[in-house]
Amino acid sequence: MSTGTTGSPVRPIAIIGGTGPAGMGLALRWARAGETIIIGSRNLLRAQQAAAAVQLKGGPQAKVSGMENAAACAAADILMLTVPFEGQASLLKQLKPAMTAGSILIDATVPVAAAVGGRASRTLGVWQGSAAEQAAEIVPEEVSVVAAFHNVSAELLYGDLALDCDVIVCSDDPDAAQLTRDLAVKIPGVRAIDGGKLENARILEQITALLIGLNFRHKGRAGIRITGLPPAAYR
Ligand SMILES: NC(=O)c1ccc[n+]([C@@H]2O[C@H](COP(=O)([O-])OP(=O)(O)OC[C@H]3O[C@@H](n4cnc5c(N)ncnc54)[C@H](OP(=O)(O)O)[C@@H]3O)[C@@H](O)[C@H]2O)c1
Repeated sequence: MSTGTTGSPVRPIAIIGGTGPAGMGLALRWARAGETIIIGSRNLLRAQQAAAAVQLKGGPQAKVSGMENAAACAAADILMLTVPFEGQASLLKQLKPAMTAGSILIDATVPVAAAVGGRASRTLGVWQGSAAEQAAEIVPEEVSVVAAFHNVSAELLYGDLALDCDVIVCSDDPDAAQLTRDLAVKIPGVRAIDGGKLENARILEQITALLIGLNFRHKGRAGIRITGLPPAAYR
């Protein structure tokens, strides 16, 4: 791990497939919160262009660079995966050798039926139970998988206003889940909630299909809020 100008360790976040709306939105919010961001792409130029756009929007303090996905994976131990379901498994298989032991993979993949020509408001059945569990089956054993950020609007993330939504975080690794909740609350307006084991990711993924349907129906950018939990549950 390299050190920053203050001597404190720099812990970059690599956003794999970060050139799309979800990746660029998260990159922007975390860059504004002071995180060091690497945007990954299958194509170096696309990564650099996306990084330049986020850097410009994030302001002079933002630290954003672009790399090919494998280089981004190798340079970070927090990996945020924001690719469509149809590319998820093959990309993870390809990147597996570049992942370092002890890394965390945060997966936001939603297995929408649009991946096979169906509707974005329906999901596909995934043999493992969810896209996140499919990811966990592919990555090295020493990489912890966390499911989060499925229910956040990318369009709102890549904007300037505080969000009005909760991020439910599911993982079998409590430390990785805690780190992800700490990252989630760096996004203004977001509360993070422990959603239990990774197997609950299937529910988060299904909720997104419902939100997409609501957005079509009501022309909005829906998110979710969980009410009725004690204050300590929100983080
Ligand atoms: N959009 C939202 O509001 C939202 C919200 C929550 C969760 N999500 C989920 O987050 C993921 C990303 O969403 P998005 O809207 O940002 O997706 P996207 O724009 O369709 O794709 C993101 C990036 O993934 C890469 N990619 C595309 N197809 C690929 C393939 N077959 N193999 C490897 N890489 C591929 C592309 O980057 P390069 O071409 O540069 O490699 C693309 O820019 C999806 O699974 C989505 O369901 C989206």
